[in-house]
Amino acid sequence: MHWKSRILHSTPTVPTGFNSFATPVYRGSTILLGSMANAHDEWHMERGWNYGLYGTPTALELGARIAAMEGARHTFLAPGGQAAISLIYLSFCKSGSHALVPFNAYGPNRHLAGDLLRGLGIEVEAYDPMIGSEIASLVRPNTSLIWCESPGSVTMEIQDVTAIVVAAHERGVTVALDNTYAAGVLLDAFAMGVDVSMQALTKYIGGHSDLLLGSVSVNTEAAYRAVGSTHQQIGMAVSPDDCSLALRGLQTLAVRLEKLEASTLEIARWCAEQAEIETVLHPAMESCPGHEFWKRDFTGSSSIFSMVFDRRYSPEQVNRFVDSLKMFGIGWSWGGTHSLAMAYPGLERPTGDYAGRIVRLNVGLEEPVDLIEDLRAAMVLALV
Ligand SMILES: Cc1ncc(COP(=O)(O)O)c(C=O)c1O
Repeated sequence: MHWKSRILHSTPTVPTGFNSFATPVYRGSTILLGSMANAHDEWHMERGWNYGLYGTPTALELGARIAAMEGARHTFLAPGGQAAISLIYLSFCKSGSHALVPFNAYGPNRHLAGDLLRGLGIEVEAYDPMIGSEIASLVRPNTSLIWCESPGSVTMEIQDVTAIVVAAHERGVTVALDNTYAAGVLLDAFAMGVDVSMQALTKYIGGHSDLLLGSVSVNTEAAYRAVGSTHQQIGMAVSPDDCSLALRGLQTLAVRLEKLEASTLEIARWCAEQAEIETVLHPAMESCPGHEFWKRDFTGSSSIFSMVFDRRYSPEQVNRFVDSLKMFGIGWSWGGTHSLAMAYPGLERPTGDYAGRIVRLNVGLEEPVDLIEDLRAAMVLALV
């Protein structure tokens, strides 16, 4: 064979005797089938290698580990948390469906609901996250999905997920939970009866602010079929390189979560003692709405909380406070190694007046003493 052909037709083999803790990155759009007998075009959700879009060994290994952590039957992967959210809507809603989403849900979830989904004839209604069993009054004959996000984004309300699940299941409605805050482990979604648990793996599983990935975990056969079929029809491919980073992140998840919980609590308690702060919204603190449900349902807390500045401060002063921080970077997202801060001058909440006074902190792996000093210095500089 000419070398130009030979170089293309070398046969890579899996080495024997080479064992590593790392899952290899298996790249492949085409998967060699060997014979026409193996060529088929029906889809697979498990290990029936067919085409790279339907899974590589690296992606399926990550899915299997997330499923094991969450106690799920199966975990599907998506290119990001927001993609996982879209996948859930498209799996359970069709034109004419009604869905319910808490008004404090992740902003792009509500944006998707109000724009693209509305255009498809899917009506998504916002509800008060503290509604509990009263959600029953909002369920209509065409309600096909109820979202929970606990704690909610920025204002951190903890929901009575159990009461919502009971009311939903009495009416045959699927319940999906954004379980990102709990990293899929600090809240046992399936033990509480939730049908679908999603995570932005971007946050705690990735853990280093360098990848975007999402997961959708299911426990029932019906949810498995619904999500699996949609996942494949819309072609939600994930990169095996990203999956390998997430697999590496999983190895240090437990120690990172422990350290983040301790540091975040120390900083949140310090904030609560400052005269400049009206209230601190941290799920493990009594001042957080729904704290009783956190005590009942969660086995720990993680790295984000919000603080609300006293009414005497203007939104400009609060922005200046964030601008004055040296160790907390200004940026979206959370769950990584570095601390972040974000002010929300345009926060929209029907029940609260926190807009312009609320700052969400994501605590990283720096020493809390340094972070507290940074917060103290920024308060002195900005709030004069
Ligand atoms: C609660 C929550 N869910 C979902 C997402 C979306 O994740 P991603 O950024 O991976 O799309 C985010 C991102 O900030 C989030 O905060």
